Amino acid sequence: MVCEILLWPDECLSQNSVPVAQVDEGIRSLVADMFETMYAAEGVGLAAPQLGIHRRVVVLDVTSRLPDSKPLALINPEILQKEGSQSFEEGCLSLPGEFETVERAAFVKIAFLDEQGAPQLLECEGFLAIVIQHEMDHLNGVVFVDKVSPLKRELIRKRMKRLKNARAQA
Ligand code: NI
Repeated sequence: MVCEILLWPDECLSQNSVPVAQVDEGIRSLVADMFETMYAAEGVGLAAPQLGIHRRVVVLDVTSRLPDSKPLALINPEILQKEGSQSFEEGCLSLPGEFETVERAAFVKIAFLDEQGAPQLLECEGFLAIVIQHEMDHLNGVVFVDKVSPLKRELIRKRMKRLKNARAQA
């Protein structure tokens, strides 16, 4: 089922998400809805709080940029190790049309549960590392515009207000 993606600013996007206690059918159904919603919006990543669901669940698919990669569902992801830095002009499905340069670690090692509840480890760098860090931020109530200057953030806030008004009238 394609769900509605919350637009920033929204209090739900600033809240912490709670760990998944058990990877069951309900979680697998959430993951399926998240993939469907992400693909419908033509995004590369989506976090459960963007749908107003405060569980530590992320989906991502970067095959458009990295054809050898696979779609991934990350349940209760944790960063074990971070190295270096890289900058990239990021966007977010909760902020359509907004792009800002954000600095992130160049390499991350993460632990997570897969859709069967099995523990997994993943080491990655480059674009995949960026997407993972961006989506994991959502689980802690952090959006990429929290990392830009207050002045830029205010301009984005104004543009988002206009976008929300336009959508409300459509
Ligand atoms: Ni995002």
